[in-house]
Amino acid sequence: MGGQSALRKPLSLLLLTSLCLLHQGAWGQPHLTYRAPDEEATSIQGVRGGSVELACDSGPTPLVVLWSFTPLGSLIPRPVAVTNGAESKVEAGASALGVVSLWNSSLVLQELREGARGHFLCQVLHSASGQLHTTYTYLTLAVLVPVSKPQVRLSDPSPVEGTSVVATCAVREGTEPVTFAWRYQAPRGPEEDLVEVTKQLLQLDPVNRTHLGWYVCSAHNAVNRLSSDGTFLDVIYGPDNPVITVEPLGLTEEGFWASEREEVTLSCHAASNPPCHYVWLHDHTQVHAGPVYLITSASHAHTGFYTCLAHNSLLDTHSQTTIRLTIYYPPEGQPSCSVLPTLGAVTLACTWPGGLPAAQLQWEGPQGTGPAALSNVTWSRTAPQLPNGGVFTCAGQHPALALPMLCRISLWEPLRSPTCWTTATAGDRFIMLSCEWPGGEPRAVLSWLNGQQQPLGTTSPSLAIHLLRAQEDLAGQEFTCRGTHPLRVPDPHCQLQLEAPQVAVAKPWVSVLEGGEAWLGCVLLGGTPPVQLLWLGPQRQQVEAGLSGFMLHPEGAQLRLSIRDADPARHRGTYQCVAHNALGNSSRSVLLEVLRYPAPPNVTISRLTYGRHRREVQLQWTVQGPGNLTGFLVQRRASAPSPEAGAWETAASDIEPESRGRRLGGLDPGVRYAFRVLALNHHTAGHPSEVKIPADPPFSAYPAVLGAAGTGVVVATVVSLLVFQYAARHPGTIPCIEPPTTTPGVDPVQEPTDAPVNVTITVTATP
Ligand SMILES: *[C@@H]1O[C@H](CO)[C@@H](O)[C@H](O)[C@H]1NC(C)=O
Ligand SMILES: *[C@@H]1O[C@H](CO)[C@@H](O)[C@H](O)[C@H]1NC(C)=O
Ligand SMILES: *[C@@H]1O[C@H](CO)[C@@H](O)[C@H](O)[C@H]1NC(C)=O
Ligand SMILES: *[C@@H]1O[C@H](CO)[C@@H](O)[C@H](O)[C@H]1NC(C)=O
Ligand SMILES: *[C@@H]1O[C@H](CO)[C@@H](O)[C@H](O)[C@H]1NC(C)=O
Ligand SMILES: *[C@@H]1O[C@H](CO)[C@@H](O)[C@H](O)[C@H]1NC(C)=O
Repeated sequence: MGGQSALRKPLSLLLLTSLCLLHQGAWGQPHLTYRAPDEEATSIQGVRGGSVELACDSGPTPLVVLWSFTPLGSLIPRPVAVTNGAESKVEAGASALGVVSLWNSSLVLQELREGARGHFLCQVLHSASGQLHTTYTYLTLAVLVPVSKPQVRLSDPSPVEGTSVVATCAVREGTEPVTFAWRYQAPRGPEEDLVEVTKQLLQLDPVNRTHLGWYVCSAHNAVNRLSSDGTFLDVIYGPDNPVITVEPLGLTEEGFWASEREEVTLSCHAASNPPCHYVWLHDHTQVHAGPVYLITSASHAHTGFYTCLAHNSLLDTHSQTTIRLTIYYPPEGQPSCSVLPTLGAVTLACTWPGGLPAAQLQWEGPQGTGPAALSNVTWSRTAPQLPNGGVFTCAGQHPALALPMLCRISLWEPLRSPTCWTTATAGDRFIMLSCEWPGGEPRAVLSWLNGQQQPLGTTSPSLAIHLLRAQEDLAGQEFTCRGTHPLRVPDPHCQLQLEAPQVAVAKPWVSVLEGGEAWLGCVLLGGTPPVQLLWLGPQRQQVEAGLSGFMLHPEGAQLRLSIRDADPARHRGTYQCVAHNALGNSSRSVLLEVLRYPAPPNVTISRLTYGRHRREVQLQWTVQGPGNLTGFLVQRRASAPSPEAGAWETAASDIEPESRGRRLGGLDPGVRYAFRVLALNHHTAGHPSEVKIPADPPFSAYPAVLGAAGTGVVVATVVSLLVFQYAARHPGTIPCIEPPTTTPGVDPVQEPTDAPVNVTITVTATP
């Protein structure tokens, strides 16, 4: 401890001495102790604000360590710190260097300041072997400054394209050398390094739209590297010529097309900064403002020129583009297919007119595709290329249709063969030859040929008709109908021969018993139809069914005539069966005989007398000789008082053949009747009996006369009585009555004739 305290004084002394020396040597006498620091000086770098330790080659146990500092550009050293090992002192002015402290002999500078740039000298005094020695350490301290955060400065942040722009990477401080790097980021693009630019200035001359974007620069020195924030370069440009797009897209030679009723979107875009304004013109008339013009349902009227005008309002510049839009529409309906027969071939025709543009038509057959054309296309195929049932399709395509429209035609052969027939028209004045062969595609073509195979008239499909004027000389002529169809070889035909009708009768002579039924048969043997069959009666009048017991029974080619209840008077005679057609007629006659039954025997009235009151008669008769009979018929007639006799009327008819008498009532006592009797054999009546007048029964004459007198009827047999009565009532007017011319001696009742009683009454009225 004593050693240490002993050292204390001498050290303080030494230090002061040394400082004096240093003072004198450094600031006054450089030639004494000063050596040029460059030669042996050790370079040390520190960074501003950082710390640095300056080590001193002090050796063991130095007595005094003195640090001094000469600022850069100055020649005058200044003491910084001193230590003797036990104590140390830092000069107050050393704070210009930073926070200065001594660690043993090392000088430690913290929070280094730029003022610490310069030369440091460490002087060490120590004793060895009883002698004082000094050593020097030279240090050169460089204080580096980091670069400050750079800033991008633009000579014009919103330049117009084509002008010149300079971007500067501004750095406030930083130890040189400072190097620069640039980075660029397009809006919404990736960041990229602009490797070729390393300078502080970035020259864009001329500036264009590709330069628009964010710029970042970075500065770099030995200490650090810092990057700026991004700075936006807003290049003003445009508008360029607009680009028009059409949705949905359809291109024509002149522009664009769209389908009728479709929604069409016209979009316009022109490169421009700031974004431009758009105006749409349709055929020079503004139709819309804005980049997108929507046609919700296109129509023919939308066809035309569309101009998009673009305007950059900042630069007041314009540009424009015009396109042509055509609205397509398909033809109406669908294609129609038809087939025309030609000789040994067919021509398939497909047509679909109209539309914009015209539809493309294409045939397709069973053996491949056929021709194609716009609106109309025909295809000729020869018979071998035409299978029966082959289907040919015509497809119509149009840009405005998603799917093609089709029509089809199926070729087929008509069934069977032509059929021929005739009909008569206009009251048989014309004969119509008809020929039919229906069906088929195409339809068969028919033509009539005469016997010399010369065509008659024109050909026609499926049905051919030829009219002939009815003439006798047509009978026997042959006509042929020929059918042609591309799928049928050889041509089928039908033939007919014109003929007058032929008839035959079942029996030329028919007999029937009276009251029976007769049948007359007639059959048509031939003749060109239509043939009219009819019967003519005995009076050469056409027989009408239902009249006079006639009935007609048509049955195929036969026409039978039945006659019921045959009556010789009405029905017997010659009948004719007549057949008639446009070519002529023929007839056959039938003789009808209506036979009577054998005549029944003669009848004689054996007794005819009045019953009571003359209201009935009793009749008896006898039959003369043999003979077949089926009954009797009693007839009566009134014979008086009318001058002429009345007609015979039937008094009784249902009398059995065995009967020989009959009581007949219902008589008028005031009428004088005559009677007769006929025998019947079926319908045949025999000779009538003689006519008789009934006789009064012998005992009842007077009451009968009295009964009759009231009626005013004068009977010949009671003339006197009547005269008497009349005279009694009307005296003075006596009628003169001539007696009847009766045969004397003959019983008036048995009078053989019914001749009227000739009575003349003369009445003279005497007032
Ligand atoms: C000073 O030196 C002594 C002995 O050589 C050592 O033990 C000590 O740590 C040093 N102090 C500093 C601050 O370096
Ligand atoms: C813009 O400038 C760059 C470089 O200067 C050049 O490569 C580019 O072709 C230019 N672009 C246009 C559109 O002028
Ligand atoms: C198509 O055919 C029809 C009838 O055959 C005709 O009238 C028309 O002119 C044709 N059209 C074209 C474009 O050929
Ligand atoms: C039948 O033909 C002849 C001669 O042609 C004619 O006189 C007669 O009237 C015809 N008869 C009928 C029923 O047509
Ligand atoms: C039947 O009477 C008729 C006429 O009165 C007569 O002519 C005929 O000869 C008579 N027949 C017989 C068989 O007497
Ligand atoms: C009467 O008729 C029968 C059958 O009807 C016949 O056999 C007979 O010969 C006929 N008599 C006379 C007289 O005709």
